[in-house]
Amino acid sequence: MSADFVDGLTIHEFSIPESLEAEGGDDFAEMVAMRNAIEAEILGTDDLDATAKELLPFYQDAFAPKRLFLARIDGRIVGRGVYEWQLEEGAPAAFIEVQVAEPVRRRGVGTSLLRVLEATAAADGFRVIQSWSSHPPAATDDVLVPPTGFGAIDSNSAAARFARSHGYQLEQVDRISRIDLPVDSALLARRKTDAASHAAGYEVLQWVGSCPEEWLSDMARLHQRMSTDAPMAAIEFAEEQWDEARVRNLDDMNAAGGRVNLTSAALHREPNRLVGFTDLALPEVEGRPAGQGDTLVLKEHRGHRLGTLLKVANLELLMRVSPATPRVTTYNAEENRPMLDVNEAVGFVPVGYEAAWKKTV
Ligand SMILES: CC(C)(COP(=O)(O)OP(=O)(O)OC[C@H]1O[C@@H](n2cnc3c(N)ncnc32)[C@H](O)[C@@H]1OP(=O)(O)O)[C@@H](O)C(=O)NCCC(=O)NCCS
Repeated sequence: MSADFVDGLTIHEFSIPESLEAEGGDDFAEMVAMRNAIEAEILGTDDLDATAKELLPFYQDAFAPKRLFLARIDGRIVGRGVYEWQLEEGAPAAFIEVQVAEPVRRRGVGTSLLRVLEATAAADGFRVIQSWSSHPPAATDDVLVPPTGFGAIDSNSAAARFARSHGYQLEQVDRISRIDLPVDSALLARRKTDAASHAAGYEVLQWVGSCPEEWLSDMARLHQRMSTDAPMAAIEFAEEQWDEARVRNLDDMNAAGGRVNLTSAALHREPNRLVGFTDLALPEVEGRPAGQGDTLVLKEHRGHRLGTLLKVANLELLMRVSPATPRVTTYNAEENRPMLDVNEAVGFVPVGYEAAWKKTV
């Protein structure tokens, strides 16, 4: 049925509230509940749920702005469109997300939201639009494989059919993996000893919560390199510009959302600079699964098993600081063999996939 025939459907831009107690806070929480229900329905787990408190600061992020469009039928939120862009000079693309509540699918709500998002991108002068969708492991041989040749998703999934019918091409597949905790400490100790024997001249520094003042500028450099050094296939990004204020802003967003970040960083003793890091976020609710954040070792320092050393160190830190955390979930490009090797060696197993879509207009 065409979008124009959904009785009572409205789509309006939603003003992101200042707080959950402010006007719009209840709608924001209702929107997050819908988002969580959709992710859980697709992946068969609520591990990736986030609370409204955790997410709100990221919708207010001055360094990565977002606009939100809500679809309602008779006042009830039935879909959402998220529009995001980069402030960096020459940023090539808009990033969008479309989600529609299960009971009202295939009635044109998704298409209506997409039209609004694409019109917004056109008005902003973006010719490239990119989006991500979650998928369970494909249950049939009828799969779509991206041009990278790595990973696959079910061709007949709602997201694949929807995206392709609107002119989007599959460019990359990420693997979603998970590890159950606690990890066998003898296994971690073995991996750590082995990795450390290849990492002479480096040591691991760790912190819980905000980045210590003395490492702010090094962490800014690492975050900036994270935006260019991870494998991205044909997905287009501008190099992110990071400075100390942006690192502090990230800390502040985590703190405002009740999250605690655990960071392990690799220090190159001569000349006393950080050359790699990994971080993960403890959720605001104790006992909920943790989400792996970024992991990066600068290109010029690879080959010293620093990736393994950092991952093992951060898992050990997590088990010490938060013994109630049951699991960690992580996303990695399916072609990123070095990162997958590190994760598999400590026990991460695949639980789903994320497809990256691109349309050039
Ligand atoms: C993908 C999604 C946004 C579509 O929303 P929608 O309101 O059903 O979309 P529309 O009614 O405008 O378009 C329907 C088209 O999407 C595809 N589609 C939607 N549901 C489908 C399903 N269960 N099986 C196969 N194709 C489906 C089809 O191409 C369908 O056209 P058809 O009904 O003529 O076959 C919705 O299924 C959803 O929220 N999925 C989870 C989130 C997601 O994956 N978003 C990323 C999209 S890239």
